[in-house]
This record gives sequence, C-alpha cells and structure tokens, in this order.
Amino acid sequence: FARTPHAKVVAICDLNEDLARQRAGQFDIPDVYTDVEKMLSRSDIDVIDICSRGSSKDDDNHERLAFMALEAGKHCLCEKPVAHDYRNTWKAHHLAESKGLKTKVGLTFRYAPAMMYMRALIEEGFIGTPFIFNGYEQNSQFISPTIPVTKMDLIPEQPNDEIRVSSLEGYGAPIIDLSMWFMDSTIKSVVGILKNFVPYRTAIDGRVMRTNIDDGDIYIGEYANGAICSVQSSYVTVGNYPGLEARAYGSDGALICRLVEEFGVPQTLHQAKPDAVEFVPVEIPDKYFPPGYTPGEPWSSLFYANLVHNFMEE
Ligand SMILES: NC(=O)c1ccc[n+]([C@@H]2O[C@H](COP(=O)([O-])OP(=O)(O)OC[C@H]3O[C@@H](n4cnc5c(N)ncnc54)[C@H](O)[C@@H]3O)[C@@H](O)[C@H]2O)c1
Repeated sequence: FARTPHAKVVAICDLNEDLARQRAGQFDIPDVYTDVEKMLSRSDIDVIDICSRGSSKDDDNHERLAFMALEAGKHCLCEKPVAHDYRNTWKAHHLAESKGLKTKVGLTFRYAPAMMYMRALIEEGFIGTPFIFNGYEQNSQFISPTIPVTKMDLIPEQPNDEIRVSSLEGYGAPIIDLSMWFMDSTIKSVVGILKNFVPYRTAIDGRVMRTNIDDGDIYIGEYANGAICSVQSSYVTVGNYPGLEARAYGSDGALICRLVEEFGVPQTLHQAKPDAVEFVPVEIPDKYFPPGYTPGEPWSSLFYANLVHNFMEE
C-alpha cells in the first residue's frame, strides 16, 4: 500500500499492539488500533485489507472481519480463505455488490509479474487451444513433526478419524485459481487423494498432538472446455518458497512459469512452440512490475505490491 500512488495508509489494527506499533513505525502509519470496530467506524477510511490469521477460538476470522468491513461500507481486500464455507464467500460478494463496493481475494500469485505476462500471452493466443495444465503449489514449510506449530488455523489439532482440510485449501487455492485463469475455463470434474503424511506434530505448548489433516494432495481434473489438468499441493515437499509451478500446453505452444526462489531468482517464464520445442526463457516486460520495483526484490514484497496496486487501480 505504501508503494501504490492510489493509497495512503492511515491506520493499522492488530490484537497485539506492540506488533501494530512496530509496523506503523516501519511504514509511517499515523494511527494504531487493537479494536477493529473502532477503526471501521472512521468515515475517512475507504479501503480495508484483511490480513489477520484465525485461531482455534476464532476459526473464521477473515469471514467475520470481511462482513464487518463490508457492513461498514469499506472496499475490501481479503486474504484467502474469505470463509471456510464457500457459500459465505458468495454472501460477502453479494453484500459488496449491493453496496457498490469493490472486493478482491488476496490470491497473490496471480500478481507475480511472470504469471501476469503468462496470462497476457495466453490471451494473445500463444498456446492456441488449451489442452493440458500441470500445477504445483508446494514447499517444505511444515515438514518437521518437532518444530512447534504456530499457524493453528492452517494446521489444527484434529484427533478424530475424519480428515480435516488443510493443504488443499491453504496451499492449493492459488494454483487452482491460476489453473482456471490460464485454461480460461472452470473445473467440471476432479478425482484426487488427500493424504496425511505427518500424523503427529508438536503444539506450541510442547504437547504431541494428532493432526489428521491433508498435508499432501494430488488431483486430476477436466475443465468445462475439455482441457485437463493435474494439480499437486503440499507443505511437506522439499523445496523453496513460494513453490508454484504452472505449465500450460495447447495446440500452438506451451508456457511454464516457476515461482520458486532459487539463488536469488524469484520467478522464471519459459516458452516453446511446435517448431521450436526446446523451452527458452522469456523476458518479462517492465509494465508487469509494480511501482517502486528494484531488481533483486524478494518475491514476497514484489508480488504483494502488485496485488495491492492492482486492487487500488480497480
Ligand atoms: N496470499 C498468500 O499467498 C498468503 C501467504 C501467507 C499467508 N496468507 C494469509 O495471510 C494471513 C496472515 O498471515 P501471517 O503469516 O501474516 O499471520 P500472522 O499470524 O503472522 O499475523 C496475523 C496477525 O493477525 C492478528 N489478528 C488476528 N485476529 C485479529 C483481529 N480480530 N483483529 C486484529 N488483528 C488480528 C494477530 O494478532 C497477528 O498479529 C493468513 O490468514 C494467511 O492465510 C496468505
């Protein structure tokens, strides 16, 4: 937000006041709150960005805050998931529409310059008719059973036999979004497997807890337009952040984008054609980079700056 010319950040709210003050100092934000209702009551605030994290006591934190922001008449950018029940995300969407408010879900990886350019090339017809998409969203962030779990909303204690969704929702969402964006269609049918590879993990208080959640998933699927896909999401697969790979193959060409930070390079895009089948790197035009970009910028600030700038432009 500090980088887009369309916004001025006037307030920050966190339940932890010290953290909020730290960030306020870092980005010259004048006002700090610990009570979101107080912040929302201000009439000079137009846009709210919900980037809190739920807890075991406040599981649907984004949903609650999103409805509060929309009821207060604020345009709303919200981290995924907006709600764990997708029907409530649609409710939020309809509420926003009825009030003439703009919304966006923070599906950050759409806003990687390489992914944005890949979409533009597909729109221009580079791959022709879409045939096959392969996608990955994975890294090894939660591979250790002994490192205490701090993100209990993503990895909750789940002692009973019923597997509870985790990796597919928490990690799969961005690559599922990208897959439909690139194939220009919606998923019609899927068959897949949700697997629990690390059955016991260490809680923040040192207890060993049963985590019967999906931490590695694979599905194959078919889109409404006849294209097909394979998608893998996991946070117990060795590799660096953020860990996305999107491959789109069509009648006239293929594109492969990787967002895996390796040796200082956060994104790559490669292309091939039926008469030039060896993949070659593609240079990403300057217009896909956010304001204030400097070469060597890490993926996290680069992609988020683009997401926010795009929302503010809308
Ligand atoms: N788009 C992406 O690629 C991506 C990547 C990582 C995380 N996320 C999402 O971003 C969110 C934040 O992740 P994080 O790693 O920064 O979490 P974090 O735990 O480091 O920080 C979240 C903060 O939210 C605060 N908070 C919780 N409830 C609140 C409330 N009711 N009012 C005010 N503050 C509240 C907490 O005190 C905490 O400081 C998560 O929901 C996660 O799903 C998205």
